[in-house]
Amino acid sequence: MKSVEQKRINIMGRKLLLEKQQVEGIRHYDVYRREGGYRSVEKALKMQPNDIVEEVKKSGLRGRGGAGFPTGLKWSFLAKPDGVPRYLVCNADESEPGTFKDRYLMEFIPHILIEGMIVASYALGSNVSYIYIRGEYDWITDILDQAIVEAKENGWLGKNIQGSGFDCEMYVHRGAGAYICGEETALLESLEGKRGNPRIKPPFPAIKGLWGCPTVVNNVETLAAVVPIINEGAEEYAKIGVGKSTGTKLISACGNINKPGIYEIDMTISVEEFIYSDEYCGGIPNGKKLKACIPGGSSVPILPANLLLTTAKGEKRLMNYESLSDGGFASGSMMGSGGFIVLDEDQCIVRHTYTLARFYRHESCGQCSPCREGTGWMEKILLSIEKGKGKLSDIDLLWDIQRKIEGNTICPLGDAAAWPVAAAIRHFRDEFEWHVNNPEKCLTENFGLRHYADAIHVPV
Ligand SMILES: Cc1cc2nc3c(=O)[nH]c(=O)nc-3n(C[C@H](O)[C@H](O)[C@H](O)COP(=O)(O)O)c2cc1C
Ligand code: SF4
Repeated sequence: MKSVEQKRINIMGRKLLLEKQQVEGIRHYDVYRREGGYRSVEKALKMQPNDIVEEVKKSGLRGRGGAGFPTGLKWSFLAKPDGVPRYLVCNADESEPGTFKDRYLMEFIPHILIEGMIVASYALGSNVSYIYIRGEYDWITDILDQAIVEAKENGWLGKNIQGSGFDCEMYVHRGAGAYICGEETALLESLEGKRGNPRIKPPFPAIKGLWGCPTVVNNVETLAAVVPIINEGAEEYAKIGVGKSTGTKLISACGNINKPGIYEIDMTISVEEFIYSDEYCGGIPNGKKLKACIPGGSSVPILPANLLLTTAKGEKRLMNYESLSDGGFASGSMMGSGGFIVLDEDQCIVRHTYTLARFYRHESCGQCSPCREGTGWMEKILLSIEKGKGKLSDIDLLWDIQRKIEGNTICPLGDAAAWPVAAAIRHFRDEFEWHVNNPEKCLTENFGLRHYADAIHVPV
């Protein structure tokens, strides 16, 4: 079997989704089509819908919205009762702090999403498909609407697409700007015109989704990835990446790095290379040291630099699903939605954790007591520690509250609120204690790296 290093020789830098990003006018239909756009629809319409589902299964594509659930498998769960419509819904809510990759795709290459959605709609038998987009992406809604008009004018949407007998309409629906509406069942409620409260599962959307009908909800990047899978074939797609992390992944990188932005990676590169090489983040500004990183969007556990660059087993950590979660939550994290947030030595972990807690308290829909009450308590306790007014017992109290939220709520927002607090205490407890023990100093000084400095490898 080829090693990761050998595999990289041929495919490093390979772009599948952003390949044409530099082509002028790629946002518009004529240029997109001239560059090979909509080929996957031509190919798919000659295939049996089930064969497309099998192809996506074979590709190993995992959902890019956060959970990493295998896409082909999800599609195969879709119920098909006679006489009942099925729906495909694209989740373009993208509200997770640190995640801004879907926005880039939709803004600059909107037709790749529409193309992927037509193929998916055909595979799933959905004649009406929706893009649910976060309210703040107002200008992107216009871009998508325009792209849908162009696709329709050119026979890729509407009745009898390209003479195939398959009909498909597509609509963009703007949310009102609530993070919870990214959770798939809250999204469906909102799309139905109700308040975006998550539903109790089961039943899952594949059985009872939009208006009670079988529905598949997929992320923007997931649906765009269907295009290269059909164009190149599942086997070719699966050759890119490593293990169960096949294909390419978009990473939105931000925080204390020289080159924030969107990068398409092949999931064989190391975290160290991603942060320090000029091809990607270009290192930390002003010669500062790396303190910590949230590798997959604000919900996933923060890692101190030593555990970020190397797993607890002493292996180089790679930018893929398996490696980022190696060690479980004790010493690992998650790929999540690919929102990569870097913190340098000047950042305060207590303040940072407070900021996140505030966000989750604000976004809780309030249906479950552990989430509704617990997020508010955590926010208040963290603010008091941050302001030098905390007690040592508050740290244990925080730990206790987050444990009582995790796993005890209707939807995973509760977990998403609990995990950042748990990971901060797990890895940076001494920084919390320092705040409590130095109430005056913590208002004017930064804990910095302290003992983490020894363990952190800083490439020269
Ligand atoms: C609070 C919360 C917010 C979420 N926000 C998003 C989002 O903005 N975009 C997204 O694709 N998935 C989001 N998800 C995950 C979705 O519920 C769902 O798993 C995903 O859209 C499935 O698509 P995928 O299989 O292609 O990843 C969120 C989940 C939770 C619990
Ligand atoms: S976990 Fe929080 S956001 Fe999710 S349903 Fe319960 S209260 Fe609402």
